[in-house]
Amino acid sequence: MAFRSRIIGTGSHLPDQVVTNAQLSEKIDTTDEWIVERTGIRERRIAREGETTSALAFQAAENALDAAGITAQDIDFVVVATTTPDNTFPSTATKVQAMLGMDHGAAFDIQAVCSGFIYAVAVADNFIRAGQAKNILVIGAEVFSRIIDWEDRTTCVLFGDGAGAVVLQAVEVEEDAKVGILSTHLHSDGKLRDLLYVDGGPGTNQKVGHVRMLGRELFRHAVNNLASVVGEALEANDLTQDDIDWLVPHQANKRILDGTARKLGMPADRVIITVDRHANTSAASVPLALDEAVRDGRIKEGDLVLMEAMGGGLTWGAALVRW
Ligand code: UT7
Repeated sequence: MAFRSRIIGTGSHLPDQVVTNAQLSEKIDTTDEWIVERTGIRERRIAREGETTSALAFQAAENALDAAGITAQDIDFVVVATTTPDNTFPSTATKVQAMLGMDHGAAFDIQAVCSGFIYAVAVADNFIRAGQAKNILVIGAEVFSRIIDWEDRTTCVLFGDGAGAVVLQAVEVEEDAKVGILSTHLHSDGKLRDLLYVDGGPGTNQKVGHVRMLGRELFRHAVNNLASVVGEALEANDLTQDDIDWLVPHQANKRILDGTARKLGMPADRVIITVDRHANTSAASVPLALDEAVRDGRIKEGDLVLMEAMGGGLTWGAALVRW
């Protein structure tokens, strides 16, 4: 017998403040046409003053716990993927743990920027496979609006704020059973870290810094790396692209989503897309898209769901799930 992780509940939470492309074009030299044509983004949610990563994460977590039908008292680990922690330390996860009223278990953050949720799912899944946890809350939450240079039109139009969460639960099954999370695949290449980074940090100076990005170069790596990690995940499970029911990609740019789907030969209506309304919410984008598709009934029991992401580091990864 072996332990596998099933996703038994999803949840999400977005700030209520909507900022449209037209609103941005009143402040910086850009247009709705440019943003829609180059990225597919039409609007994004921006956190209000005092609305922190932990606040968004907590709401998403509560929604995921409700959907799972369990309470925080049943959770063994709280894992938060974020690049915009409330404080340099302690971790945002410990804050969420306290907000959930937990005085047991363990909580920690994971930092892999836009790939953070996939990394967090991989870590949580391995704790479950090792028999060290029964229920794990995995959250992706960001307030990227706080690390944006709002005068840099090449980056400030691209990002948004939000949070998504899943509850993983251990099930004991036959060694070769194909249930729950089938496999996870993580990669990074630190030589490419200058393609997307923040020009500050506690170990460098006393500034938080702002997002800096070489967009065109990143775009090329994104399409190639995502296609390659998707191929790796399918091969590891003796599956082909035709077996995938839903692709739940990181939402950086509609053109990257279209490019990846084209490489996989997947019809557009099998790709979950939220980038038009959420923009790029970094570690929150995959669980936000996942929650939307679970709640509106697109993702159903038995479906094969492929999640993938790429971000600063560079980092990239995929997780294949039999729902
Ligand atoms: O989540 C992590 C992963 N992130 C990504 O994967 C992002 C990948 N990259 C991208 O999505 C795209 O490269 C961008 C959306 C960032 C940029 O699109 P692009 O088609 O690669 O545009 P570009 O950078 O080549 O810029 C084209 C032109 C430039 O003007 P010139 O030099 O041709 O005169 C830019 O200055 O568009 C200009 N431009 C803008 N114009 C209006 C750049 N930003 C804007 C803007 N509004 N906001």
